Amino acid sequence: MELIHTVDWMKQVARQARSEGAIVGLVPTMGALHAGHLSLVRAARERSSSLVVSIFVNPKQFGPKEDFTRYPRTLDADRAALDPLGVHHIFAPPVEEMYPRGFSTGVEVAGLSERLEGRSRPGHFRGVTTVVLKLFEIVQPSFAFFGRKDAQQGRIIRQMAADLNLDTEIVVCPIVREPDGLALSSRNSYLQAPERAAATVLSRSLAAVRQRIERGERMVQPLVEEMRAVLAAEPLAAVDYAEIVDADTFEPATRLHGSCLAVMAVFIGSTRLIDNMLIEADGAKITCTI
Ligand code: PAJ
Repeated sequence: MELIHTVDWMKQVARQARSEGAIVGLVPTMGALHAGHLSLVRAARERSSSLVVSIFVNPKQFGPKEDFTRYPRTLDADRAALDPLGVHHIFAPPVEEMYPRGFSTGVEVAGLSERLEGRSRPGHFRGVTTVVLKLFEIVQPSFAFFGRKDAQQGRIIRQMAADLNLDTEIVVCPIVREPDGLALSSRNSYLQAPERAAATVLSRSLAAVRQRIERGERMVQPLVEEMRAVLAAEPLAAVDYAEIVDADTFEPATRLHGSCLAVMAVFIGSTRLIDNMLIEADGAKITCTI
């Protein structure tokens, strides 16, 4: 496993792999790797013969009051976690390598990037799509793997790939959770013990919605009320948003249909956590995936 810090070297290595007929896969991350990230790496390894994991805490996707400087950086532990998984290259560039002086370009997926996460975090998705497009250009992977944990991010990247005719197929993988339901996140390390206990409220509220759906509810309003009631009962939780939206447009839904997502962002103390559940209707049958 080779650790690469420069764009030129990464490009050269990926170009060489492609010219030898390798199927190049990419898993973009910001490091502080946990079992959620590693599940993407395993899925990616199955479909690629040359696998790149990028580790880059991307300043452009953090707002001025967000946790960029505080974000955990654990490169040695990340290397140790990736080594046994058959990863070929870690791409971990310094900020100046990705954004040299004079960098002025941004990529933005209009509409989708302005709702929910985008509304709460202005400029966030522009930062994400800009860095992901750069990574795609540098590595030119056949496949790139993302987690459904960041459902809106995955949808936006898929739109960017379609709109810009990118040759990279976007694969979205399931959410990995702790045994008590909390979705794994690098930000979980910020939680103090009482907050860690309170943080299960996100997945508990999704489970409550699932239960109401299983009992036959198909209208969105009572489901959203249920989700918000569970969240409101947790004193350490402050809801940023909690909605049920169409999984394609991220516009609010009124009745369950096709694919919908119950999505939320909730502050537990000062830590902002997100979670979601996929709700897929196929005729009368509805499947909820937490
Ligand atoms: P990061 O938060 O490090 O996440 C990297 C990838 O891991 C994302 O695709 C995310 O959805 C996935 N992931 C995180 N937690 C997960 C979990 N519990 N189960 C499954 N997958 C999970 O998302 C980013 O970084 C950045 O925005 C990035 C795409 C790297 C661009 O900077």
